[in-house]
Formats: sequence, structure tokens, C-alpha cells
Amino acid sequence: TSAVQSESTLESKLDTLECHFTWDLRSSRCELLRLKDQMLDFGLEGNVWLGPIYNLQGFIHLQLGLNEEANGFFTKAAEVYAEQDPWRVVTYGNLAWLHHYQDKEKESQHFVEKVDELLKENPPPFQDELHPEVYAEKAWTLMKFNKEKIQLAIDYFQRAIRMQPDHKEWRTSRVLALNYLNNCKENKPDAEVLEEMRHAREEDPDNLFLAAVLLKQRAKNGENVEEEVEELTRRIMENPVNSYNGFEPLLNLHEQVHSVDEAIGLAEEALRKKFPEVRYIKKCAARCYKKKILFHKKGRLEQDLIQRALTLHKDLIDLYPESLKMKIDLALILSKSANGQHEAEQMYQKLLEEDLEPLDKQMLYHYYANYLFFVQKNNSRSIHFNIRAAKIPEQSLYRDRSIKTLEKLARHGNRTAMEFLRNLKSREDQHDFQEIQEEATGWRRSRSPSNWRAVKD
Ligand SMILES: *[C@@H]1O[C@H](CO)[C@@H](O)[C@H](O)[C@H]1NC(C)=O
Ligand SMILES: *[C@@H]1O[C@H](CO)[C@@H](O)[C@H](O)[C@H]1NC(C)=O
Repeated sequence: TSAVQSESTLESKLDTLECHFTWDLRSSRCELLRLKDQMLDFGLEGNVWLGPIYNLQGFIHLQLGLNEEANGFFTKAAEVYAEQDPWRVVTYGNLAWLHHYQDKEKESQHFVEKVDELLKENPPPFQDELHPEVYAEKAWTLMKFNKEKIQLAIDYFQRAIRMQPDHKEWRTSRVLALNYLNNCKENKPDAEVLEEMRHAREEDPDNLFLAAVLLKQRAKNGENVEEEVEELTRRIMENPVNSYNGFEPLLNLHEQVHSVDEAIGLAEEALRKKFPEVRYIKKCAARCYKKKILFHKKGRLEQDLIQRALTLHKDLIDLYPESLKMKIDLALILSKSANGQHEAEQMYQKLLEEDLEPLDKQMLYHYYANYLFFVQKNNSRSIHFNIRAAKIPEQSLYRDRSIKTLEKLARHGNRTAMEFLRNLKSREDQHDFQEIQEEATGWRRSRSPSNWRAVKD
């Protein structure tokens, strides 16, 4: 019994650690694969979030059952910081969980003790609070892992900053999150957020990502920023192109200040001259072409342009094999090409027949509904697929958007949409009630990773 006892002590101890395994990071296998892929486009050179990047990569790999790789990433994360650095609290916690998953209880215990030691020798600066470094890593991780948790991320950044105001990169990340949230709600920059961004920019002048985002917001606000755009373009193009150095917001900026054609030109220049091997640039370029094609209004599009867009999208399917979105995008571009409608429809049908996880189905139904509405002009089928997306109970951006579309149709008097929303509402009320009951009886163990068994067995 003493072995059982010490195991249960260890388990309860593991639950109290501040690390990825206790931060309620849940996701589908497909989402994890996608994120794993996306993280390869993060620039590491000069990246201030190197440790958190390795930790998150380790967590994702372990969830996918790739234990060796996970161990490698956590070890790298530990190497980024010195022995007594509070940043190591999170990494040691992760290592304790990793060994626990592999039934190596002694090693797990060893890392639990290392956390205790570290906390004893280097306690958090305020009672009942975590180290500001831990708050910052938690905030950054939530922000990268799940955009739905961005408000929570902002709150954690705020706590970290209050305790340690001299970390300019924490303030930069917080204000970028605020700006992201504002953009989701409004099409107009918020005066207060804009002011905070200007301030963050003065203190963090080398952050080119922030510089590009800020310039775009200022341009939206009617300021003349053309000269600054030119200067910033030169600076960003001197650096390696990755998702850290601001290439994507730079393209958005060119689109805002000039046109989507300018953005396409810049992406092609980067592909041609400087970094032809980087798949991330291809992704950015493809996105520009897609916008050009989707929002095109007057006259016929040149076939050359559509061909180029098709080539890029086909390349991307090979470069990001886990991405369903790339396939959906290709089908959409196909539907806009001369004689491509039939092939597009076939592609959608093939995807619809695949055995997908709920979140992926939701995304597919949502985009297929858009295609039916805008390209096929088949309203009733489009409604049908928006309903199918909304019926999947998983919370996501796609579900929200499909529900918004249905709400709009219901306001215009569509019976089908109205009825569906009424049923949905009553079902959700019931669901809330069920959750409260489960919580009250302590039945739910919300923190265990979604595929705990799969990893452990
Ligand atoms: C919409 O699609 C359905 C099913 O394929 C079809 O029966 C119907 O005729 C279409 N409606 C329009 C307006 O194209
Ligand atoms: C409302 O829904 C019905 C049933 O799905 C559909 O046939 C009809 O086209 C919709 N009406 C409008 C105005 O979209």
C-alpha cells in the first residue's frame, strides 16, 4: 500500500505544479498537428520567447505520443535559462509530468523536488502570487494555443507586468493581444489601444512585428504613413522572413496603405530574390492571392493570376500535409478558375466524406456553407451546412461565425434559421445546468489532458 500511497501523493503534487499540463490546454489531435506544423515557422533567432516555444513544442509532442521529441524540447527549454531562474519552474513541472506519463515515478519525483527547491531558494516576490515569469509564460502559451483564451492571456500579462514593469516584451505582447481582440470586435482602431501601442513601440523599437501592426492601425485611422512604410519594408526585408519578424503584418500593411496587388508584389519579391525556400513566405503569398481573387469585383480575373494562385496552393498542401484549411482554400480557388467548378465540387465532396474530428468538420462545414452561398448562390444548402457546423457543440470561431450568419438570416425572417436557433438555445440552457450538477458532485476532472490514456498506454 505504501507504493500506492506515494503514487497518489505524487499525483496530487503534480496537479499543483504550474506548467502546461495543469493549464487546461485541451485540443483535438488535428489541432495539435496543425500547431506543431505552424510552430516550425516561428523564427528562433533573437526570439525572446525561446523557452516558452520549446516548452509548448514539448507539450504538443507529448500529447501526440512523441515522447522522445517531447523530452528533447523540454531539455532545450531548461538550457535556455540558468539553474535558479524562475522560468525553470514551468520546465521542471513539464519534465515531472513527462516522466509520470512514462511511468518513471522516481524521475518524476526528482523534478517535483527540483521545483520545490527552486521555489524555496527563489520564492515569488509576492505572497499568494506566482513568479511574474510564470504568469508571462502562461499568458504567451494561452495566446498561442487558443485564440479563444486571449482575454485570460491579457490578464496574466497584466499581472506579470505589474510585478515586473521593466520587461518591454511583455508589454508588447499584451498590447498586441489587446489589438487583436479589438480587431475581432471592431473595424476601427480603439484610441486607447492605439495610444498604448505607440507607447510600447517607443520602448521596444526593434520589434518589427509591433511596428507593422501599429502602422496599419495608424493608416486605418487616416494618418499618412507612406514614408514610414517604405522604411519599415526595407528593415523587415533585411531580416530572415518568419512569423516573428513581422512579414505577414507587413503584407497587411501594404494592402491597407496601397493595394492587395502591392502585397502580392512584395511576397513574390521575397520568394524570388531572397528566401525562395521558405514555405512560410509561400503561405503568406498564397493568402494575398486568395484575397485578391475572393474580393475581386469588376471584370474578369486574369487566368495567369489564378494559375499562380493554384500553383502556390497546391505546393502548400505538400508543405503543410496536416492542414485541412489549405485543401479547403485550394477548392475555393479552383471554383473561381475557368472550368474549375466541377473539380472544386468534387474536392469538397471528397473532404466531406473524410472521417474528420468534430472541430475539423465544423471548419469544413462553415467554409463549404460560405462557398455555397457566395459561389454557388445556393442559399438553402448554405443554411443547411451552417446548421451542421453550429450543431457540433465544440466552441470555435467557425461555430460562432456560422451562428452569426444564421442569426442574420433569422432576423430577415428565415424560418429554418429561426427554428434551429430556438432549439439550440434551449439545448444550451440544459447543458449549462448539467455542467453545474457535475461540478457540484465533483464528478468532472477537467484538467486531465484529453488523450491521457492514449499517451500513457
Ligand atoms: C441547391 O442544391 C440542391 C441540392 O444539390 C439542389 O437540389 C437545388 O436545386 C440547388 N438550388 C439552387 C438554387 O441552385
Ligand atoms: C429559408 O430557408 C429555407 C429552407 O431551408 C430555404 O429554402 C429558403 O431559401 C430560405 N430563405 C431565404 C430568404 O434565404
